[in-house]
Amino acid sequence: MTGPVIVQGRPGPSVQEVLATDKNPAPDVMRMESPAAGLGLEDIGIERYVSQAWHDREVEKVWRRTWQIACRVEELPDVGDHIIYEVASESLIVVRAAPDQIKAYVNACLHRGTILRKDGGCVKQFRCPFHGFSWSLQGKLTDLPAAWDFPQINRAEFNLSEAKTGVWGGFVFINLDPDCEPLESYLEILPRHFESFALEDRYKAVHVAKIMPCNWKLSMEAFIEAYHVPMAHTQTLPYYGDSNTQYDVWPGVRHVNRMISVQGIASPALDDITPEMIIKNMRRDVPFFDGDPIVVGPGETARAKLAERAREKMSRSSGRDLSQLSDTESLDLIQYSLFPNAVPWGGQSLPVCYRFRPYGNNPEMSIMEIMFLFAKAADGSHPPPAKIRWLSVDEPWATAPELGSAARISDQDTDNLKRIQRGLRATKKPGVTLAAYQESRIRHFHRTLDEYMAR
Ligand code: FES
Ligand SMILES: [Fe+2]
Repeated sequence: MTGPVIVQGRPGPSVQEVLATDKNPAPDVMRMESPAAGLGLEDIGIERYVSQAWHDREVEKVWRRTWQIACRVEELPDVGDHIIYEVASESLIVVRAAPDQIKAYVNACLHRGTILRKDGGCVKQFRCPFHGFSWSLQGKLTDLPAAWDFPQINRAEFNLSEAKTGVWGGFVFINLDPDCEPLESYLEILPRHFESFALEDRYKAVHVAKIMPCNWKLSMEAFIEAYHVPMAHTQTLPYYGDSNTQYDVWPGVRHVNRMISVQGIASPALDDITPEMIIKNMRRDVPFFDGDPIVVGPGETARAKLAERAREKMSRSSGRDLSQLSDTESLDLIQYSLFPNAVPWGGQSLPVCYRFRPYGNNPEMSIMEIMFLFAKAADGSHPPPAKIRWLSVDEPWATAPELGSAARISDQDTDNLKRIQRGLRATKKPGVTLAAYQESRIRHFHRTLDEYMAR
């Protein structure tokens, strides 16, 4: 294949060259390519992965100042439905306060500080379990036991403090900063890119959260580059484009970046892979492609046949006609980041979203979550959204059968992450060194992180 060489030295074919020959053409956002420029090549200091002081500043500068995914809209169908979103020391109640209104309140009693709600659920008001102070879903004080004893409390003003909320793509976002930029501008190019992938038409079918033995940034970094795939996930090379993955960092865009890995073609590192081997290996790891044999005829490619099979299966399971869906949306890993901690995937066949956050205030532990967002039925109906399955630091992802083949991959990464956190304690080198292109999303993330930390 020939085509413009945008990134010198990257092995081919490029993602764009593959997409150009696909049977069902890709949406326009998939035909864009924007390799990072001007981000520099310096090492990234290790302090940010190990230091308590860095973590404490990060709580102040990042976790209290950025838009974060709190939950899905479908988790709050009725008035009074709420979830608890916690990050570091922060705890919020995110509640449907009225049929068309979602609010977020600081989850602490205004009397002596008790956490108001330990878990989500559905309530008519928030009543503190200690002495019974109560607040309405609008955050107004409704009950003050022995009111005579609190002459200093002005009942009309003793309201729960609020965080900002916003909704995009079926996600409920929160922001603790009263002066934050609007969610609409914070999301930058994301809504435009997700027009073809409409996450609001999906519901949360799987949600697994695991305590990770490393800083939250290390967890996230391991999942936003494909450079580690040949070493860490060797099994995928016959059907996964690792070293020709495309990484996009757009000029002037702070919060969003992207990678695209084509599937159904072999890694550029492998020679002599036949279409039959591609299909056999992919079917071994991804049960989604099971069923009748997939036969590649003369002039056909494994990629085209796998995309066809994916469309058939998705059409059947969703009750929609997806025969015109592009090959790339049917097969490929299309993964965006939203600063600081969300990683929503595009396309249709891999409806994943990751979320990463610190585990309490321990800089060497984190919470990583994997959600699967399946298509709603054509009439918008869907099964109840999945409850979170929590895995301890010692329980492998494979404990959660609902993750399918994602569990093995994530366990391979988790083993490495434990070693990375340990190694960053032992190393005498002051920073980590990043690849200019294949780790450009990580560098872009740190550039934006540095900007927030410097505010
Ligand atoms: S601490 Fe909540 S009512 Fe006393
Ligand atoms: Fe990985």
